[in-house]
Amino acid sequence: MATSPIIRTEGLCRDFETGGEVVHALKDVNITIQPGTLTILRGRSGSGKTTLINLLGALDRPTKGRIFFNDSDITKMSESNRDDLRKTDMGFVFQSVALISLMSAYENVEFGLRISEYDKKLRKARTEECLSFVGLSKRMGHRPHELSGGEQQRVAIARAIAHNPKVLFADEPTAELDTGMGLQVMKVFRDLVEKEGVTIVMTTHDPNMMELGDRVYTLEDGEIIDCDERI
Ligand SMILES: Nc1ncnc2c1ncn2[C@@H]1O[C@H](COP(=O)(O)OP(=O)(O)O)[C@@H](O)[C@H]1O
Ligand SMILES: [Mg+2]
Repeated sequence: MATSPIIRTEGLCRDFETGGEVVHALKDVNITIQPGTLTILRGRSGSGKTTLINLLGALDRPTKGRIFFNDSDITKMSESNRDDLRKTDMGFVFQSVALISLMSAYENVEFGLRISEYDKKLRKARTEECLSFVGLSKRMGHRPHELSGGEQQRVAIARAIAHNPKVLFADEPTAELDTGMGLQVMKVFRDLVEKEGVTIVMTTHDPNMMELGDRVYTLEDGEIIDCDERI
């Protein structure tokens, strides 16, 4: 039996106007994201991947079209409802790891939980659990500069999942890593999907990562030109 999608878009368009010229960054994008799967948005630089993931993550609004998150149209929500949705149901990981350099791995994750107003009594255990999940139990006291790029990205993932989001969005999370470290990050993503039931949407242009997606959408000039299903 088919489960209903956690995210669905209808005729999504996003135009940008710069200096009197209009860029059609997304044109009539219709995609569905199934819960508990890893979806990859692939495409060349400039194809619209970041624009699309920002719309799905309620960080931006479309010019036209609709985005349903669990059947509610988030394009119609107020900014404060969208903030709440992001804070409770969504987590974000970006290409450049934005850890706080003066804080240890532990403090970076715990700080995220403080911001999301996670129950104070449970923060320590949850922080340790998340760092252990990404394989960094032994590195909790290290500051970012004492960690490799791949380890830093895994701290960022621990921070992004600590508040138990339903969906994790990751924009080019492996772009600044070598293939080995990139595959370690992908292994953490697969574990999150399979063991924790998290839904992951990520962008990449790295062919090495493609086979680890359950569904791979290919973007070209703002249009979805292919959908490849692995499950
Ligand atoms: N804020 C913006 N203002 C103007 N043009 C933009 C903006 N963001 C993206 N674009 C344009 O939209 C297109 C898609 O960009 P983007 O989504 O960043 O692609 P990708 O992430 O696949 O590299 C590009 O042509 C880019 O120049
Ligand atoms: Mg991008």
